[in-house]
Amino acid sequence: TDAHTAGPFIAAIDQGTTSSRCIVFDKDGRIVSVDQKEHEQIFPRPAWVEHDAAEIWTNVQEVVSNALIKARISREDIKAIGITNQRETTLLWDRHTGEPVHNAIVWQDTRTDALCRELGRNVGQDRFRRETGLPLASYFAGPKVRWLLDNVEGLRERAERGDILFGTMDSWVIWNLTGGVDGGVHVTDVTNASRTMLMNLHTMEWDDKILTSMEIPAAILPEIRSSAEVYGTAKGVLEGIPVAAALGDQQAALFGQTCFAEGEAKSTYGTGTFLLMNTADKIINSYSGLLTTVGYRIGDQKPVYALEGSIAVTGSLVQWMRDQMGLISTAAEIETLASSVEDNGGAYFVPAFSGLFAPYWRSDARGVIAGLTRYVTKAHIARAVLEATAWQTREIVDAMHKDSGVDLTALKVDGGMTSNNLLMQTISDFLDAPVVRPMVAETTCLGAAYAAGLAVGFWPDTDALRANWRRAAEWTPRMDADTRDREYKSWLKAVERTMGWID
Ligand code: G3P
Repeated sequence: TDAHTAGPFIAAIDQGTTSSRCIVFDKDGRIVSVDQKEHEQIFPRPAWVEHDAAEIWTNVQEVVSNALIKARISREDIKAIGITNQRETTLLWDRHTGEPVHNAIVWQDTRTDALCRELGRNVGQDRFRRETGLPLASYFAGPKVRWLLDNVEGLRERAERGDILFGTMDSWVIWNLTGGVDGGVHVTDVTNASRTMLMNLHTMEWDDKILTSMEIPAAILPEIRSSAEVYGTAKGVLEGIPVAAALGDQQAALFGQTCFAEGEAKSTYGTGTFLLMNTADKIINSYSGLLTTVGYRIGDQKPVYALEGSIAVTGSLVQWMRDQMGLISTAAEIETLASSVEDNGGAYFVPAFSGLFAPYWRSDARGVIAGLTRYVTKAHIARAVLEATAWQTREIVDAMHKDSGVDLTALKVDGGMTSNNLLMQTISDFLDAPVVRPMVAETTCLGAAYAAGLAVGFWPDTDALRANWRRAAEWTPRMDADTRDREYKSWLKAVERTMGWID
């Protein structure tokens, strides 16, 4: 990091699934400083995942302070703050004390599986798809809110009385940042709201009919705002600085990759992997298992929509290999281990830990390793782990093609896993298309910074942002078509084995 870059700057806070971070950017979109802190992953039962929201808020404050210290700048040099966050993770808290009523229920958590089936009874999984762009699945926030209201004693009464606030992590961070019990603003942005299953994509407002069906009182809901506008001013370490943007992390990455034109797409390799394609002002219904979602909305401009392919488990599979299996001691080791063999040795690993997301949406799926023989070593498994991410990308790209007719000429990638060369090469091989990575791989924070900077006039328009995008690396396909097709068939066979595991 270069602590001597001339200001002013924009700060971005990324409240992610495994960690919270703060990055300070200069006008050229270059990183000036970074600080990051992991928080605890709480697994109360199989396929349940929770976070302690108080811990997260403490970490956010800490990473912000540290990022300023590392950049050797004072807060006056920061012109605006942008927020980005893990999406769908659901929190209810008391507006008078600021205390969460329960741990946050994380997007990966499948506890609402039965509830979702019940909500879709007689109508099916697409009951709210026309309004929300989403299938009924445990991934989304609405059913998680309902679960909390049904399961935390006395909560429904408190919620109906107006004592309880709901938010995804953007709302929680913004509310606390702008003063919490002392006048904090209770807002969310259109991208985060589009993941609750409670917002109507056509009106950009909470949908009364869905609220009634899900038995969720409107009193708990935040106000829906655009992704780039001043929501309020910060208190505390960032005292007086405008809080000027919020975007779900995947939408922020789309923004950070400057995918501002129709048909432009990116894929972010983090805990999970999410491929989003800009569809401009078109709400494209998916018939291939993708989601229709809001890409972003700048101030009072028209909203921009996107098609999304969501994969629940990619980077978190590598973490699982490290933390639960102990087969590697650092995440980076997966590449060394996988590179020590020529191929997967016949093994395929489908990490359906949270069921299967796109294009299947099967909460009843659970993970499998298929094709095991005495021949298979841990190196082959490491290879299968990386291939799982690449095959899942291929399935999403195929679905995107079916829904939009757009042929992928190159895939723009970002996120932590893009430092894994073998993985990037494998993705290029399996897609039979080039994979390109920009100079700043931290596009999630960059996108939030860009949106905040636009809101306060730090950058004039999206063209100025585009000029900052620079290619850093490119991988081109090397695999022959026969091998690719044969391997793809085996992968799809392994996927079939995961389904119907849970009744
Ligand atoms: O939808 C979940 C997604 O927003 C989480 O992203 O990068 O925190 O795993 P990430």
